[in-house]
Amino acid sequence: MSIQILGIGSYVPEKILTNCDLEKMVDTSDEWIKTRTGIEQRRIASAEQATSDLAYEAAKKALKNANIQAKELDAIIVASISVDQVFPSTACILQEKLGAKHAFCFDLEAACSGLLYSLEVANSLLVGNPKYKKILVLGAEKLSSIVDWEDRNTCILFGDGAGALILGKCEDAAENCIIASDLGANGKYTDILQIPAGGSRMPASAVTVANKQHYLTMAGSDVFKLAVNAMVGSCKKVMKEAGITADDIKWLVPHQANYRILRAVASRLKIPEDEVYMNVNRFGNTSAASIGLCLDEIADGNLAEKGDYILLTAFGGGLTWGAMLIKW
Ligand code: COA
Repeated sequence: MSIQILGIGSYVPEKILTNCDLEKMVDTSDEWIKTRTGIEQRRIASAEQATSDLAYEAAKKALKNANIQAKELDAIIVASISVDQVFPSTACILQEKLGAKHAFCFDLEAACSGLLYSLEVANSLLVGNPKYKKILVLGAEKLSSIVDWEDRNTCILFGDGAGALILGKCEDAAENCIIASDLGANGKYTDILQIPAGGSRMPASAVTVANKQHYLTMAGSDVFKLAVNAMVGSCKKVMKEAGITADDIKWLVPHQANYRILRAVASRLKIPEDEVYMNVNRFGNTSAASIGLCLDEIADGNLAEKGDYILLTAFGGGLTWGAMLIKW
């Protein structure tokens, strides 16, 4: 018995916000954003769309590609830092939209590493319990709802979207399976990427709203250095565990934070730049959604063949990080 990726889906909202649009909102320039981040545009959800609505579209596509019905799902895991509400879980809200009435549902918060964390949990549930046969995993974010659109340090970086994968059991999977993984966290740096208020430490009040403490804050250059080291370390562990080298990798699919981070990771791993999957120019940083968006594009574009090795890696607030090797 093995665990296979049965289907992949993704969704981005229609509205495009370009760097030139941002020039009208904050003191920045297309040139600055492109040089420092590689981002040219990002997608922004409408006022009516919540994270679960983006997740719903991605999930529908993944179900179609897997050729299964929502009621066959045993569990739904939604990774997100921009959940519909603090509770109930976005996964429960999504369950109702999908009609996945046999699924147990929960959200998982590991910031930009959320999809990799969720895949690890889903994989372990499937391996460890004969009851579970099919699990839907999503990274879904409406980051536009937690970004301060007056802060040029952060608002230029982020976008909205959702990516979905369905994992399931099969007899003996030679491909579409997870080969190795490594996850990590370090709570020493909780303050360098965070939303300060709105939880039990600092409940929402008129003062926290006036101080803009419900928006995402970031110490950009600290994040940069830690991100590169953590992703490189995790990728090396995973390749060692799987007994492969950088030469065996078809695609490195890093969390799409910033093209400079991606290039630094690839260079340290000695993976050529044309083997690094990048769509950060079109979608910006979509946190937990970004790896799912990349994998769906790889699938739709037939950019990998059966048996190719795809190395995923992510880094995010917490801090959290990880890497996962997939055989396509
Ligand atoms: N437009 C124009 N100028 C900007 C700007 C913007 N959008 N944002 C910041 N600046 C200014 C700063 O105010 C600073 O000006 P100063 O020197 O007068 O103080 C200057 O540009 C340089 O800022 P700095 O922070 O040193 O730039 P940087 O080269 O480190 O790039 C980031 C900033 C955010 C792009 C970079 O640090 C980064 O990518 N960090 C990682 C962020 C990330 O990926 N986070 C998510 C991880 S999951």
